[in-house]
Amino acid sequence: MSLNPNGYKSLLLLVAGAKGAIGSTLAAAVSMLKHHPESVLPYLTTAGKFPSLFPQQAVDFAGWDVDNHPMATAISRHGILPNALWEPFQDEIARVKVFSSPGADLSRAAQVQQIILNIQSLKSGFPDALPVFINLLPACASEPLHATYTLSQIYAHKDSSGQEIFWPDISPDLSYALAAIACQIPVVNFTPNLLEYPAVVQEAVKNGVCMAGCDGKTGQTYFKVVLASAFKARNLQVDGWYSLNILGNADGKNLMDPEKAAGKLANKTHLLDDILGYPVGQKYGTPSHKVHIDYYPPRGDAKEAWDVIDLVGLFDLPMSIRINLQGRDSILAAPLVLDLARWMAALSRSGRKGLIPELGFYFKKPMGDCPPITFQEQLNCLQSLEYECLHL
Ligand SMILES: NC(=O)c1ccc[n+]([C@@H]2O[C@H](COP(=O)([O-])OP(=O)(O)OC[C@H]3O[C@@H](n4cnc5c(N)ncnc54)[C@H](O)[C@@H]3O)[C@@H](O)[C@H]2O)c1
Repeated sequence: MSLNPNGYKSLLLLVAGAKGAIGSTLAAAVSMLKHHPESVLPYLTTAGKFPSLFPQQAVDFAGWDVDNHPMATAISRHGILPNALWEPFQDEIARVKVFSSPGADLSRAAQVQQIILNIQSLKSGFPDALPVFINLLPACASEPLHATYTLSQIYAHKDSSGQEIFWPDISPDLSYALAAIACQIPVVNFTPNLLEYPAVVQEAVKNGVCMAGCDGKTGQTYFKVVLASAFKARNLQVDGWYSLNILGNADGKNLMDPEKAAGKLANKTHLLDDILGYPVGQKYGTPSHKVHIDYYPPRGDAKEAWDVIDLVGLFDLPMSIRINLQGRDSILAAPLVLDLARWMAALSRSGRKGLIPELGFYFKKPMGDCPPITFQEQLNCLQSLEYECLHL
């Protein structure tokens, strides 16, 4: 039976990593949405869309974190939002329900069971709300599960001697996703971590749940897709593209571990060749699209990115472009998360289940068959998807 949000009066964001940089910014944005919608709504790509869903301001926030400090402490510690912006709503923010994450010593099955119990208690606290699960956990090193694993193998992984091994610390987000799917709750994977194993997607289809991911496309990569699509449309040949990011938040620090950064760097790199239709750097015999991420504490969440793009035009004559993005990681990311939750609610109502590759606009590595590649294709897909949601 597919999830039918008819009759729901609001949206409930269930966020794993609720007190992280993006999660806590989102918690504040949800409060702001109720009191000063004019400070949030204009920055949503879904503003004004899906009018029959539920009021755009009707959003609540709950979730999980390993951090047991109050949400206000998390907002203040991240230093992303000026105090004057969120302090007037600190009582409301303090009431946000954030569960402790399941213990890392528990088996996968026990973790999933605990999260299901948490979800059931949240559902009874918000009986009129449509929940959407959002994964905002830190980037993990790659998961040692095979794509061919069945669900029971994912739950209980065995080594070559048949001994059962649990992976509590590896891909903890998979436990949240499995619990959400069991509760028929749509899943948004904003992280570069792999959740979309075939067996997991099959389970989502079986339960009538839609899934969107992975790796949110917020700053440098968003502009890269736009520009690369423009170069392709003009047949300007990209000879090389050097991208550097400095950021000083916890995500930046975490990504200093090469194993944890590997997935994100691959997602940031592959899409350029896919858009252009040729491997950049082919004539040099080595890729000349380079992406670097460097942890630089003084910048906090105020990430900065530089791009040097070398192009070739008529008669093979070289040109180049330089871009300096002075962004704010979580300020770019939080509204996209809210947008994705609204899309998932609308798609659930229209009966969609399984992966939604048409949401490629929002992701560095859109999961599912034949995702849209160029910027124009991504916009076209959003338009068709909106039409599908509105014409049931
Ligand atoms: N900011 C962006 O622009 C952007 C873009 C694309 C992807 N992402 C991804 O989004 C994710 C979140 O980013 P962030 O900047 O908020 O990271 P963050 O490190 O600030 O937040 C992660 C939160 O997860 C919590 N956590 C860790 N393990 C947990 C567990 N087992 N259960 C529950 N909570 C747990 C941490 O305590 C922390 O509060 C990262 O994977 C990042 O790579 C971010």
